[in-house]
Amino acid sequence: MASLRNDSPVATPALRPWILLCAAILALGLAGVWATRSAQAQTPQPPPADQACLSCHGNPNLSMTLPNGDKLSLYISAGALNQSVHMSLGFGCQSCHPTLTGYPHPAIPYGSARELSVAFYQTCQKCHSANYDQTRDTLHNVHAQIGAGGEVKTAICTDCHHAHDIRKIANDRVRISQTCGQCHTEIFAQYQNSVHGAALLQEDNHDVPVCTDCHGVHSIPDPRLAQFRTASPELCAGCHANAQLMSKYGLTADVYTLYTLSWHGVDVSVYKANWPTIWHESAVCTDCHGVHNIRKTGDPASTVNPANLLATCQKCHPTAGPNWTGSWTGHNRVSLTRTPFIFYTQAFYDVFVRLVLAACLVYVGLQILRATVARVRRSL
Ligand code: HEC
Ligand code: HEC
Ligand code: HEC
Ligand code: HEC
Ligand code: HEC
Ligand code: HEC
Ligand code: HEC
Ligand code: HEC
Ligand code: HEC
Repeated sequence: MASLRNDSPVATPALRPWILLCAAILALGLAGVWATRSAQAQTPQPPPADQACLSCHGNPNLSMTLPNGDKLSLYISAGALNQSVHMSLGFGCQSCHPTLTGYPHPAIPYGSARELSVAFYQTCQKCHSANYDQTRDTLHNVHAQIGAGGEVKTAICTDCHHAHDIRKIANDRVRISQTCGQCHTEIFAQYQNSVHGAALLQEDNHDVPVCTDCHGVHSIPDPRLAQFRTASPELCAGCHANAQLMSKYGLTADVYTLYTLSWHGVDVSVYKANWPTIWHESAVCTDCHGVHNIRKTGDPASTVNPANLLATCQKCHPTAGPNWTGSWTGHNRVSLTRTPFIFYTQAFYDVFVRLVLAACLVYVGLQILRATVARVRRSL
């Protein structure tokens, strides 16, 4: 085989480095030309009307001061526009700023930068009426329910999406949690250190939940309502009852099934089915594990770590003593190694109950037989 290669007409070993070098230079040159061409082709040039706006708003120092003293930068960077899904669709400045056609602009009545934002985001309604209606639905969305301060305080489209660099929604889960975290800073800080948040933020693990998996996006139900509470175990079950997913992390996928069979789980499911709007104290997953601060069970900071478990039960069972936690068989199937006493008791009753039932059946059968025989005898 080696001789074949030496005889190859392509190049002699002495010439090969030169040829390789030339080829590399040629390739680099071509790649350069191609890259500039494609960069030119990919960078959309704003239509002339927008270029006129950008002749002033492309100036990084352009700003205005609003009556309350807020200084608002009026700079619209080309970088931002290049990211924008709207610009790439050919929507220019005037699709969102229809009243502005040139300079001077009409006077604006807004006292602060926030007031301006609240007024300007209304423009999204024109094309995204479904999202707009959802976010303003005071019945189903907590962000719309907020009373005094209203939209000035709560999240509006541009808080989460911005205005000029709105991108196509990619499944960027880290960014989603940071978006909610801008305002919910304390919860984000807890989440960041939880088993879920740490996996997301440190490993970009997409198997763990982000804020919107549990709360929704444009329609966020009030998490302090009884309905949310009694339905919350199903939120966890979405992942924790998924055997394939859980086996990746060496976790049991029985937690939900066994929970629904436990005292607490039965209690909660009865309330959920019959009185969903009535608050009930029986424990749901988050009462024992925490909400945004859920830790691995072995973590000393975990609320279900053996060192903290009694205190966790005592929140609701204040008289519980040190032996109380021994009653916790919650997430584990009864087994000979872990709970031998319960295992044998259960095994005994399994057999015993079956024997008693069988004896009853035989007894009843014999009674019927006897009665029938007696009746037949009498009729003879
Ligand atoms: C001659 C420069 C110039 C041009 C051209 C210009 N602007 Fe402005 N723009 C300004 C200045 C200066 C302000 C500060 C407020 C003012 O002076 O009215 C401003 C303010 C704004 C504001 C903030 C609030 C408001 O409504 O006043 C928006 C939005 C805006 N411009 C959009 C646009 C759009 C869209 C275009 C293109 C149709 C455009 N501008 C063209 C200079 C310009
Ligand atoms: C998808 C809709 C949309 C498009 C397209 C758009 N804008 Fe805006 N613009 C907004 C919204 C919403 C705001 C209010 C942002 C906020 O909350 O501060 C805004 C604010 C502004 C402001 C005030 C400064 C600021 O950032 O708040 C300027 C100036 C401005 N736009 C200029 C432009 C120019 C120039 C173009 C075209 C190159 C353009 N806009 C395209 C929606 C848009
Ligand atoms: C509290 C933050 C937040 C607010 C407020 C918000 N969004 Fe979103 N939006 C998101 C997130 C996060 C996603 C991505 C959802 C996903 O990946 O499941 C999204 C997705 C979208 C999408 C693409 C998917 C879809 O539902 O069609 C559109 C369009 C959209 N938002 C428009 C809007 C408009 C318009 C408003 C204002 C009326 C708004 N959003 C308000 C956070 C927000
Ligand atoms: C002139 C109409 C128009 C206006 C005004 C407009 N949008 Fe859009 N927007 C679109 C269209 C069309 C798309 C592309 C939809 C698609 O690809 O499914 C889009 C895409 C988006 C996306 C990405 C959706 C996705 O599925 O990836 C988001 C987020 C978004 N818009 C938010 C906004 C926000 C926030 C505003 C107000 C500041 C706004 N839009 C104003 C027409 C508009
Ligand atoms: C611009 C700031 C802002 C952003 C961004 C934001 N929120 Fe909020 N959110 C608020 C405010 C303000 C309230 C009302 C808080 C209050 O009443 O104390 C609220 C309330 C809530 C509530 C109800 C609980 C309560 O205390 O009223 C939930 C749940 C919630 N937000 C979830 C989210 C999620 C999920 C995201 C991301 C998709 C998000 N928020 C993004 C400002 C924001
Ligand atoms: C695994 C599901 C889950 C995830 C992930 C999650 N939450 Fe929650 N959240 C809940 C539950 C359940 C409640 C109700 C807890 C209770 O009973 O107090 C809640 C309550 C809330 C509340 C209102 C109560 C309070 O403590 O002020 C806010 C606001 C909130 N979450 C925001 C967020 C934000 C922001 C994120 C992302 C950083 C997030 N949540 C991630 C399940 C979740
Ligand atoms: C989107 C899927 C998803 C949802 C929803 C979810 N989890 Fe998790 N959870 C995971 C994954 C994946 C892990 C493993 C993460 C790791 O170890 O890196 C995990 C880990 C845990 C752990 C640590 C187990 C251990 O000891 O290692 C607990 C406890 C936990 N979750 C409880 C909950 C509770 C309670 C809820 C509901 C409020 C919930 N989870 C909702 C995916 C989810
Ligand atoms: C959020 C509150 C809450 C937490 C936390 C909680 N429980 Fe309960 N538990 C209840 C309620 C409510 C009942 C139902 C009482 C009834 O129906 O009379 C109950 C019932 C029980 C019962 C059966 C009935 C009884 O009262 O003896 C046991 C056993 C039990 N819990 C054990 C535990 C253990 C062990 C822990 C800690 C690992 C724990 N619970 C944590 C609220 C809670
Ligand atoms: C009454 C308290 C309590 C409730 C309610 C509860 N857990 Fe647990 N959980 C514990 C304790 C204690 C442990 C650690 C010991 C063990 O594994 O039994 C644990 C362990 C876990 C683990 C780690 C399992 C493993 O394989 O290491 C996960 C995951 C978990 N729970 C999820 C859930 C989910 C999901 C729910 C609701 C469906 C829930 N828990 C309800 C107390 C509770």
